[in-house]
Order: sequence, then C-alpha cells, then structure tokens
Amino acid sequence: MAPPPSPDHPSPQLLGQRFLKAGCITQPQLDDALAAQSSPLSTGPDNLIGRILVRLGYLSPPQLRACLVELFTEECRYYRDHPPSSPPILAMRNVEKRLDGRMVLNGIDLEIPRHCITAIIGVSGGGKSVTLKHLIGLMRPDRGQISIDGENLQSLSAKKLQAVRRRFSLLFQGGALFDSLNVYDNVAFPLRETTPIPEHEIRPRVLQALSEVNLAGMDAKFPDELSGGMSKRVALARALVTQPEVILLDEPTAGLDPIIENSIHHLICDTFMRTKTTMVIISHAVPAIFHWCHHVIVLHQGKVRASGPALAVWESSDPVIRQFIHGELDGPIRVL
Ligand SMILES: Nc1ncnc2c1ncn2[C@@H]1O[C@H](COP(=O)(O)OP(=O)(O)OP(=O)(O)O)[C@@H](O)[C@H]1O
Ligand SMILES: [Mg+2]
Repeated sequence: MAPPPSPDHPSPQLLGQRFLKAGCITQPQLDDALAAQSSPLSTGPDNLIGRILVRLGYLSPPQLRACLVELFTEECRYYRDHPPSSPPILAMRNVEKRLDGRMVLNGIDLEIPRHCITAIIGVSGGGKSVTLKHLIGLMRPDRGQISIDGENLQSLSAKKLQAVRRRFSLLFQGGALFDSLNVYDNVAFPLRETTPIPEHEIRPRVLQALSEVNLAGMDAKFPDELSGGMSKRVALARALVTQPEVILLDEPTAGLDPIIENSIHHLICDTFMRTKTTMVIISHAVPAIFHWCHHVIVLHQGKVRASGPALAVWESSDPVIRQFIHGELDGPIRVL
C-alpha cells in the first residue's frame, strides 16, 4: 500500500489536482483525464494520471516531466522553510562500527524524515553503504542504537526483524540482478520470496513495475543482454514491486552516462510524486543530487558532518562541505 500523505506535506492532494493548481493543465482537461482514469476499461500502468494526460494530448512527455520536477522543486523549497514536525521513520544514535580494525562509523547520529527523499553523500569509503546496511539491520553496530518508528532494531527478535525488513526495499550498490533469471523473474523474486501473493497476481504487478521504469516488453531478456542503465532500471523495478514503505537506493546512477543518470533521477522523482514513498539514496552524483532530494546527509570521517534540507546544505559555509560539493582539490579533505 502507498503510504498516506504526511501531515507535513505541503500539497497532499492528488497529483492531477496539483497539475491543475500549478497551471500545467486546465480544469476541463483534468475532468477528461479523471473520467478516463475511472473508466472500467482503463487499468494497469497506463492508468496513471500523467500518462492519461499525455495519451489525451493535453501534455507532451517533456511537459509532463517538467511539471513533475516543478512540483517537486516547490516541495523542496517548502521543506527548507518548514522542518517536518512528525518523528523520523529511521534514526541512528551514536552508532559505532569497527571493521578490520578501522573505525568506519564513529558516532553516527542521523534521522531519516518520512515521505521525503534523503540523499546520503560523502567521500568514497566513508561508510555510506555500511550506514545503509545498519539502517535495515543487515549489520549490527558495536555501540549505539538504530530505531524504526522509535523501536530499537537491536531489541527485536529475528522474526520481528524479518517483518521490519519487509517494510524496506534495498537496491544494492551494483544492482545485483540474478544472472540466471530473466528480467521478469528478477522483478518477481521479492514477491515470490517474501509474500504469499499467488502467481496470477504477481504477473500484473511485475508488468506494471516494468512499465513504470519504461521497460515494458523487456521481461524475457537476461541481465547480460541489458545495458548498465537498463540493469539499474530493472533493479529499481524490483525495489518498487513490493510497494515498500521505505526504498533505499545505494548509488542508483553509478557508472551511467549523464543522460541515463538524468533519466533515472526523473524516474525516481516520478515514482516519489506518485507514491510519496520514503526514499534514501546514496549518491556520488554531486551536485546533481541536490536537485532531486528534500534532505541531505553528508558523512565525513565516520560522522555526520551536515544534515538538513538540501537547499540549506547547498548554502553551507563549512569548508568540508563546500570542497565536496564543488569537487575542489584544495581544502580540508585530503586528496591522494
Ligand atoms: N564487510 C566488511 N568488512 C570489512 N570492511 C568493510 C566491510 N564493508 C565495508 N568495509 C570497509 O568500510 C569502509 C566503508 O565502506 P563503505 O562501503 O560503507 O564505503 P562507501 O562510503 O559506501 O564508499 P563508496 O562510495 O566507494 O561506495 C571501507 O573502508 C570498506 O573497506
Ligand atoms: Mg558504497
């Protein structure tokens, strides 16, 4: 189930209403689209309001994308000026983790806001993936506390932890598709493994997820027949298909050309605008990622160096943050 709109959210209306309010479409056009959407003949992925508006010729695909980005940017501005009052969905308190004798996490304190996109950025090897694995209980901290909805993850039994994990989807760094399974079976995998959903209901969900990432008709392909961008989109479809409460994406755009990177960011934005799913994205796509998230957390030397609305962190005067954002060679971050 898609999560309910956050009470902190500026415009929890339906997307079509928001298109109207933003001046992207007129009231008669919205009425037409809503009528088409509620028609019994109209089902599946093509029933998304944006797609209907395109199908009816009221918006071109670029206009639809521009409109979604405009609404998203408006949300990010709102987020900067109105910090969320609801408690975070995930939190880490003073988390420490030593790996191979090295202090990788050295007292991490962070909060992940609900129904927002949060980006975690920082230098390579700085502990971003390790942090993500702690957030979903795949790694246990040496010290400190990790909580979901205020409940301490470490105190949960294995069975309860399993149940909590079902609320998340994780797109691993590298995508990690199963080479021996075709695209369809890769996307169906989490539904078959973690839910009792029968096969005849799995099929429409898989096809819908593939269509949402613009991979309709590619279900019979195998991973070695896909480009890097297509593989990422399959991995994204697999993360979306269970309709999780939180999606964690570890470098969804790494190794992609700038156009494909941009298309993945649009896809994530489009998904967020339709579902309001809480997302956490680890990314090296700096500065681009600042356009695609509400909240930014910067990790540095095993600690959180900055955490706040993307638009505020962007303005930071901290020399570490400035050097990182602008990729400068000179500054407090030592470059080998
Ligand atoms: N399972 C492990 N065992 C031992 N050391 C590990 C393990 N996982 C990660 N590390 C070490 O922890 C440090 C942080 O790793 P992590 O993968 O979190 O970095 P990262 O910030 O995600 O980097 P990148 O941006 O390159 O993906 C690295 O020095 C890495 O070698
Ligand atoms: Mg990593």
